[in-house]
Parts: sequence; C-alpha cells; structure tokens
Amino acid sequence: VSDVFVFGAGQLGRCLARGLRAAGVAVTLRAARRGWPRRLAAPLVVLAVRDGQIAGQAAALATATRLGPGVAVVHCAGALGVEALAALVGRAALGKMHPLVSVAGRSPSALAGGWVGVAGDRLAVRRARGVARALGMRPVDVSGVDPLLYHAAAVMVAGGGAALVAGASTLLASAGVPREQATAMLAPLLASTAANIRRLGLPRALTGPLRRGDRATVAAHLEQLARHAPAAIPLYVALAQAQLVLGRQLGEASLDDYDHIGASLARAGPPRRGGRSRRRSP
Ligand SMILES: NC(=O)c1ccc[n+]([C@@H]2O[C@H](COP(=O)([O-])OP(=O)(O)OC[C@H]3O[C@@H](n4cnc5c(N)ncnc54)[C@H](OP(=O)(O)O)[C@@H]3O)[C@@H](O)[C@H]2O)c1
Repeated sequence: VSDVFVFGAGQLGRCLARGLRAAGVAVTLRAARRGWPRRLAAPLVVLAVRDGQIAGQAAALATATRLGPGVAVVHCAGALGVEALAALVGRAALGKMHPLVSVAGRSPSALAGGWVGVAGDRLAVRRARGVARALGMRPVDVSGVDPLLYHAAAVMVAGGGAALVAGASTLLASAGVPREQATAMLAPLLASTAANIRRLGLPRALTGPLRRGDRATVAAHLEQLARHAPAAIPLYVALAQAQLVLGRQLGEASLDDYDHIGASLARAGPPRRGGRSRRRSP
C-alpha cells in the first residue's frame, strides 16, 4: 500500500501514521473531530477512533464522502468484528486490522515485531497485511476468532501488565522504595519476563518461588503482606495460583511442595463460591 488515510488522531492513529511515514508510505492523518472529507481515494482508510465510535463514523463516511473505486476500509478494534462497518457494505472492501501491541505515546517502536489480527474482504485483508509488513509487524488471520475472547486476552496482558506494575509499585513503596523509582525499577523486570516468554515460551519462562516449589518463601510473603499490605493479597494470591499451574507443569519440585503452597494460597485467598470460608480465623 502506497497511500493510507488514517481517521482518528489518538494514540494508535498517530503511532500508525508515524510508523508508516517512516516506512516511506504516504499518510494523511485526520482528527475525527474534523469529520470526513468530501472525497477519498486512498486505497486504504484506517478507522482509528474509539470502539464505540466505529459504527457511527462508518455511517458518517457512507453519507458524507464519495469513495473512489477500490477503496478498502478497516477498523482497529480487537473487540469488534467486521460487521461494525456494516454501513459501508457495497461501498468499499471492509476489514479489521488490530495491532496486538500496547500503544501509548507517539513512538512507533512499539509496533515492530508485534502481530496484527486481520480479517474481512480479500482486498481489505491484502492491504492490511501490506500495512502490517511495512510496519515490521506480522499479520495473522483472525477470521473465525471470537473477537471478545481474543480482546479480553489482549487486555489481560496490555492493560493488565500496567495495572500489575501499579500494584507492585505500591508494594515496593510500602517496602521503602521511593515511588518514582519503584515503577522505573519494575519496567525492565516486566520486559525481562516478556523476553523470556518470547524466547522460551510457557511454562519454561516461569521463574521464582512458584517454579522452585519454595513453600517457605511463599508462606513468608503471605504473612508479611497480611501484616503490612493486606490490600495486595487478592492479586498476589490470584497470580500465585496461576503460577502454581505452570510450576506443576514444569515439575521441578515435589508434589507435596506444590500441594502445600496451593493450600496456603487457598487459605489466604477469597472464600470459595458456594463453599464455606477457608480463611483461617484470626
Ligand atoms: N492504543 C492501543 O494500544 C490500541 C491497540 C490496538 C487497537 N487499538 C484500537 O484503536 C482504536 C483507537 O484507540 P486509541 O487507543 O488510539 O484511542 P484514543 O487515543 O482514545 O483515540 C481515539 C479517538 O478518540 C479521540 N480522543 C482522544 N483523546 C480523547 C479525549 N481525551 N476525549 C475524547 N476523545 C478523545 C481522538 O479524537 P481526534 O481524532 O478528534 O483527535 C481519536 O479519534 C480503538 O478501536 C482501539 O480499540 C488501540
């Protein structure tokens, strides 16, 4: 694709525009608040507005703009299918192009190496794939993939990763580390986990006491959290339970160690639904 029209100058729209320009692609970036132009002939129109605006902006495009022949329109929402562009059926080739990366700030460096979920009409998919490759990204066919489950997974990692560091920063601050430094210290830690996952996959990328079956350390964490940071316990326990599943898959400690850790996490965690509370009485 030699010419791309990006509608929506938010985090993703600006980042796509920068990345494509750096790759030598001619880009028009238009803020959504300016509305659609009267004519549009770019071979690819990328709708980079918020999810709730996509159907309405597609309808506005259908009425406000004369689209040149052979135009493809894609949206960028992971949670929505191509039918969000229903107002444009018969007017353009339609598709979706969802970068599976976390885009904040203007640097397009976040894009390179990431995957882009693409689906829709053949022409739209072909152009979306071209854009992905120009950005150094890897297109993947997501037709037939449940968009909401797909997007829930993406949000668990992207927004969830940020929230995880926020929670851990609070804990580091309780431990006595200056707050500004706490977040800065945790970012490379998260990056090292991502690098291990990329290189080794799961469960091999798991590190820490849950891998080693170190029941004494987990028990000590739980006691100290109960004393000094009880608000952090639910998240710690939920994540430790998920780590325990990976630890058991690796099997580098005894079953007894894993079972013991599982029991102490169940005691510290929320009461089971429908069952009696397993919380220890104070
Ligand atoms: N950010 C990501 O990591 C990411 C990743 C994959 C997919 N997506 C998808 O990309 C699409 C756009 O997401 P985004 O993250 O770029 O959203 P965003 O930054 O909120 O920008 C989207 C639109 O919201 C408007 N906007 C920006 N700031 C606003 C504010 N403070 N109040 C009201 N409106 C505001 C912008 O209007 P103007 O155009 O008029 O400036 C822009 O068109 C969504 O469908 C999203 O699901 C995002």
